[in-house]
Amino acid sequence: MDLIPAPRAVQGPGHSAFSLVTDTQLVAAPGTETTERWLRSTVGVALGLPLPPGEAGAANAVTLRIDDALAPEAYRLDVSGRGVEILGGSAAGVFWGAQTLRQLLGSDAFRKAPVRARAAYEIAYRTVEDSPRFGWRGLMLDVSRHFMPKDGVLRYLDLLAAHKLNVFHFHLTDDQGWRIEIERHPKLTEVGAWRARSRWGYRTSGLWNETPHGGYYTQDDIREIVAYAAERHITVVPEIEIPGHSQAVIAAYPELGNTDVVDTAALTVWDTWGINPNILAPTEEVLRFYEGVFEEVLDLFPSTFIHVGGDEAPKDQWKASPTAQARIKELGLADEDELQSWFIRHFDQWLAERGRRLIGWDEILEGGLAPGATVSSWRGYEGGIAAAEAGHDVVMCPHTQVYLDYRQADGDEEPMPIAYVRTLEDVYRFEPVPPQLSPEAAAHVIGVQANVWTEVMENQARVDYQTFPRLAAFAEVAWSDLPASAERDYADFDRRMGAHYGRLDALGVDYRAPGGPLPWQKRPAPENFKGSLGRPIEGAPPNV
Ligand code: ACM
Repeated sequence: MDLIPAPRAVQGPGHSAFSLVTDTQLVAAPGTETTERWLRSTVGVALGLPLPPGEAGAANAVTLRIDDALAPEAYRLDVSGRGVEILGGSAAGVFWGAQTLRQLLGSDAFRKAPVRARAAYEIAYRTVEDSPRFGWRGLMLDVSRHFMPKDGVLRYLDLLAAHKLNVFHFHLTDDQGWRIEIERHPKLTEVGAWRARSRWGYRTSGLWNETPHGGYYTQDDIREIVAYAAERHITVVPEIEIPGHSQAVIAAYPELGNTDVVDTAALTVWDTWGINPNILAPTEEVLRFYEGVFEEVLDLFPSTFIHVGGDEAPKDQWKASPTAQARIKELGLADEDELQSWFIRHFDQWLAERGRRLIGWDEILEGGLAPGATVSSWRGYEGGIAAAEAGHDVVMCPHTQVYLDYRQADGDEEPMPIAYVRTLEDVYRFEPVPPQLSPEAAAHVIGVQANVWTEVMENQARVDYQTFPRLAAFAEVAWSDLPASAERDYADFDRRMGAHYGRLDALGVDYRAPGGPLPWQKRPAPENFKGSLGRPIEGAPPNV
């Protein structure tokens, strides 16, 4: 069967097959309850198989068990005349084995209800032995530029699980909207979660969508999302941006901005895209405000890693601000880059004191990296290389490979062709560990991540279109033991995608079909638009 991501080793298929039928039992040993619930409520419901509980040793059963001899996320799936046995090194390993079982059962197993009356689902005898290459297999979703309602987030967690991805990096704050309820600072969502209008398309398009946009997750919504993710062995890593990408915060609480150089009381939540000049003031009051924010964030998110952003923070306001300049002197710092590092170091230590770890975008290297920091290397590999060589952990997510908002093809057919072309094959050939790293430094590459920025994705269909099918290629890079980039068998991956498109269809994913978008995936043009939205804007710089 055409598994994605490809497993490490398969023996079989044999000539005979085991059949799952109405009275096939589900035998779940202690510690495997998440997979037991998931199999019954997902695969069982899709196929009309009740999977009643059974006793250990039962024949005609799916048996789940933890085997300490396996690595934590490893699993062994054995299909034989006795039934299906899934052994995992931990509860997570068992769960990943169940994801493989679902793929072996065929695309109907990806639906929400049975679509045909079938008495039996056959799986040919085989053994799959599998374990992931990386411990951090992430997707970042930007819910600030366009809010994704909670149901959509839960759906994405299911899509991550189906691809054996285990980190959901939740980009919750940015200039265009603050998306998480913070009880002690209610204006963050009363004011900061709403904008009056939005730029339509590119930041240089000159067009506006005049419909107000916004939304946020209540703390109970967040608890639900975190719990739903945990049931799927996914860690939710929240991102709260400091000190840049802060216009929405400053619109809500103008005193947090550089009031000596900007009329911050006049700011509104930003309605267009690009790099924003508004940066938090480097004051004790701002530190206390964000400590309050992070206290609530830590209560909601059990993740060890907490992302603090740190990217694209222009220093012009700090250069002009007498308060910021006095702060630089008082702290004995060389310049504004070191002032940003001071900001980040404060929260590195603050998080460490609470048993957590700080992660930030690679700009946090610029004024000196905080001692405990982990780096999301997005501007290419360089930041990740520097951090890994200095003994810091790194998550590789270079925009050159895994920014899934970038266009999938040249020409007029793409609905919103921003940046440059990253094809399915480009993503498949992403090599997360630069060959020049020593084995010691390479061990600091703890994982990989694909990033989905949503400036031009105003609804879920558009997020699907940009994310799929490329997330499937990314998942194989993150999980599978692939050879070096140039030696990868893309033709084989492409062939296996044949089966995977059937699964994505059954899941209702609006992926970009091979060969181009379907008619209904074309972007509807607003009334005031005079040209084709499928065409790059004349004279626009790349990556707008
Ligand atoms: C980023 O893409 N600004 C992290």
